[in-house]
Amino acid sequence: MPADLGCRIVALPQVASRLDANYEKAKQEYARHVPSILGDDQTIVDGLRTNGVFVTSLERLNIPGTEYFLEKADALERQHLPLQRSVQAGADAIMAHPEIYRWGLHGRLLDIAENYLGVPVGYDGINIFFTMADGRETGVRLWHRDSEDRQMLKIAVYIHDVDEGNGPFQVLQRRIPNYDRLASGRFPVLTQRQLEGVLPDFDMVRDVITCIGKRGTVVFSDTASFYHRGMPAITRDRYAIFFNYMGRVPLRPFRCERTMISRAQVHQLAKELPARQRDCVLWRNALPLVARILPPAPTYGST
Ligand SMILES: [Fe+2]
Repeated sequence: MPADLGCRIVALPQVASRLDANYEKAKQEYARHVPSILGDDQTIVDGLRTNGVFVTSLERLNIPGTEYFLEKADALERQHLPLQRSVQAGADAIMAHPEIYRWGLHGRLLDIAENYLGVPVGYDGINIFFTMADGRETGVRLWHRDSEDRQMLKIAVYIHDVDEGNGPFQVLQRRIPNYDRLASGRFPVLTQRQLEGVLPDFDMVRDVITCIGKRGTVVFSDTASFYHRGMPAITRDRYAIFFNYMGRVPLRPFRCERTMISRAQVHQLAKELPARQRDCVLWRNALPLVARILPPAPTYGST
């Protein structure tokens, strides 16, 4: 697979050290351009740095256009019921409700992302998940780390109330010995039982932040630096929207573009955006030529 080849190339010691040096330089150069943010938003960035996750709400965030965004999210749900299996909203649905995609491009959210990442941000679009309460421990319900970039930011918005029974997002607070040294970014994917095997003194209450919350709960998390999963849903179906951010020149661009829309559709959405937002959406334009050649890995969905 070309994406696997790409992973192996960026893990080669000579390549990796050069990419690391470029990344550190980019961070240093951008340090004085990082936008200033207000207290509540700084608290989110601090939470990300400390725990890899911070939970707030749409109400507290108070981003303009949120009411409209929720209306559109509800309209999408009506089109997807009843749930017979776990699905992602497809390209047509996303393109028919561009307000949802655009919500993630609000300047304050980009400012939070840039403060956390320390480099210009790229916006890798949205995933809209309808998760059926079947209790299955598969795919993104397994413990994993995302590998698109060194650090990432995902913002999850719960459209349904989420409790322990219907698939809360969970973030592991422990490091797993040796895994941080895996230069390939192929972090093992683990079942709950396997996790308990590699961390024999594992304690769910102590070692995991479980993000439960009402409709409108917003979860900021670094899904590249921390193991995470969507806990299997048992009692009720879950409906959540994920907004994806990484550096504008991510370490593994061929692992990005895991949303349902095509590059042509991304360009279509970008046309109507202000310059800053357009640069975030068209992050591929910032890639060196050699990194643009490899096609993206097949989409399997992600949280
Ligand atoms: Fe993930």
